[in-house]
Amino acid sequence: MVQCVVISFFLVRKWLEGGRCCSTVRLANKTVIVTGSNTGIGKETARDFFRRGARVILACRDLDKAVHAARDIESTAPQFKDRVVVRHLDLADFASIREFAKYILTTEDRIDILVNNAGMVSGQNKTADGFDMVFGTNHLGHFLLTNLLLDKIVDCAPSRIINVASLAHKYGTMHWDDLNLNVKGAYSPYAAYCQSKLANILFTKELARRLKGTGVTVYSLHPGAVKTEIARHSHDVFPAFLHTIFDVLGLILSLLFTKTAEQGAQTTIHCAVSEKVANQTGLYYSDCGVTTPSTFALNEDYAKKLWIMSAEMVKLDEALSEVIGAIKNRNQQS
Ligand SMILES: NC(=O)c1ccc[n+]([C@@H]2O[C@H](COP(=O)([O-])OP(=O)(O)OC[C@H]3O[C@@H](n4cnc5c(N)ncnc54)[C@H](OP(=O)(O)O)[C@@H]3O)[C@@H](O)[C@H]2O)c1
Repeated sequence: MVQCVVISFFLVRKWLEGGRCCSTVRLANKTVIVTGSNTGIGKETARDFFRRGARVILACRDLDKAVHAARDIESTAPQFKDRVVVRHLDLADFASIREFAKYILTTEDRIDILVNNAGMVSGQNKTADGFDMVFGTNHLGHFLLTNLLLDKIVDCAPSRIINVASLAHKYGTMHWDDLNLNVKGAYSPYAAYCQSKLANILFTKELARRLKGTGVTVYSLHPGAVKTEIARHSHDVFPAFLHTIFDVLGLILSLLFTKTAEQGAQTTIHCAVSEKVANQTGLYYSDCGVTTPSTFALNEDYAKKLWIMSAEMVKLDEALSEVIGAIKNRNQQS
């Protein structure tokens, strides 16, 4: 009996580890940007790209943590430490995103892979530009970043853009009249997170449509239930005693049901490097395979609508002319 339980436990654990990226593709002479790569899934994704020979840019808001992550990643091959670069990027601040884009576009020759990985759950807070913190960070920030870097990504085609979404999108909807969930009673960390992850998939769909024929392919994915610190910014949402209960429950559940960050990075890596998906674009993946997102996430009209609304919210035209103007100035001066 005990043996059966132990064997079943290990079989279930093995199954929950999910798919692995089997590709042995090397990334020598390729440049990769991973947002939110100082910890969790992003850090393990960056580590894999480094091992494959890529120049890896860790785009993070906490530079101390990012430098620490960079040292850890490069420790396996210190002779190549110049290939890990740390740059400041706060996705909850459009000015920071514009500065990051200006710096990257003037200093880097290539962008072959962009992984929009950073994500968070929080109580009701605002970004520097007054948008809901979760929607602003998880969707608007990546929308602006991607658009500002797009010309260079297209120049480097075949190139790829990967948006880390979540199964949670299935429980979300787009609150078209109140995307910031300002209406009294509309906000919950859960509603905000699910909406932002649905936005990641709709963004992928519309971006892929707009990039057809350019050689740039776009992917969204669910990494699995992964043991990371994703919920740390939601600590102001619940009273302290509930946190202790959640932490104990979380520990038990994580032992039973969650992937490690390295296992959770596999689908991102698969979408970024695998030859098998090179000709696919606009699709949604889980456990290193294509899967079907919610009906809402498949709606092309919603994808177009979100693009138009996002472009207005981030003032895309203004941001593009500012970044292009700054690059021209720097080129003239040098
Ligand atoms: N863990 C899961 O079970 C799970 C399931 C489905 C989807 N996902 C998705 O997987 C992605 C990675 O999450 P994770 O689980 O690895 O969480 P994590 O360990 O908390 O990592 C999230 C990363 O995003 C960064 N970030 C948050 N806000 C940012 C901002 N304003 N600007 C720049 N970076 C910011 C964090 O930086 P700081 O350290 O500075 O906060 C951190 O580096 C997220 O998109 C998440 O939605 C995770």
